[in-house]
Amino acid sequence: MKYISTSTLETWERFYRANFVNSLTGFKSASLIGTINKKGTTNLAIFSSLVHLGSDPALIGFINRPVKAAPHTLANIQATGVYTINHIHPSFLEAAHQTSAKYPEGVSEFDELGFTPEFHTEMQAPFVKESKIKYGLTLEEIIPIQRNGTFLVIGKLQLVKLEEHVLLPDGFLELDKASSLCSNGTDAYYTTHLIDRYEYAKPGVKPKKINFLK
Ligand SMILES: Cc1cc2nc3c(=O)[nH]c(=O)nc-3n(C[C@H](O)[C@H](O)[C@H](O)COP(=O)(O)O)c2cc1C
Repeated sequence: MKYISTSTLETWERFYRANFVNSLTGFKSASLIGTINKKGTTNLAIFSSLVHLGSDPALIGFINRPVKAAPHTLANIQATGVYTINHIHPSFLEAAHQTSAKYPEGVSEFDELGFTPEFHTEMQAPFVKESKIKYGLTLEEIIPIQRNGTFLVIGKLQLVKLEEHVLLPDGFLELDKASSLCSNGTDAYYTTHLIDRYEYAKPGVKPKKINFLK
């Protein structure tokens, strides 16, 4: 095993260090966040720092980098209070990755990269038509993180649209059936394969597998 201390890490070249630390926390669910500004220009960008905060109410958070580095999604959410999160699949991975490029304000990644915006009466923000699992949220809270200028954006789930075969009888979403991708760092993407599901763990009780049709 190799041991790396913080003092060593601090001597590293910036991009090497970023790659290392970005991959250390493991695989993430990479998704596209769809927003719209007050002038009606849509915006789409890839985010992987999504986190489940609670199911009742259903709250989902993500980390937005400092405003200068990633301005549009955050500004649009602040302005309209709504946004969508859309799973990524292999058929449009390249275009999804490309949404991380710094397109100027006024240029929509939907138009630029060939994504189809999809609107619902209950949700002003654009969904990605090509995505098989997507959900709309309303803004609850933006918490600035003083230490590094990032923001924790917290949204409340309002509307979910998904391919029905992914939803199992107990409410679990078998995401690999939809070929939803995950990421590691900011340049690597993976398909997934389900190994097993286990019943709620109790101290001293051997974990029991959940039987379901694979
Ligand atoms: C795989 C991947 C994951 C990313 N995850 C995040 C993230 O969680 N938060 C973030 O602020 N930026 C993330 N980015 C960078 C944004 O996609 C990028 O800054 C984008 O230009 C933001 O666009 P916007 O200004 O339209 O919001 C990620 C980029 C890649 C390639």
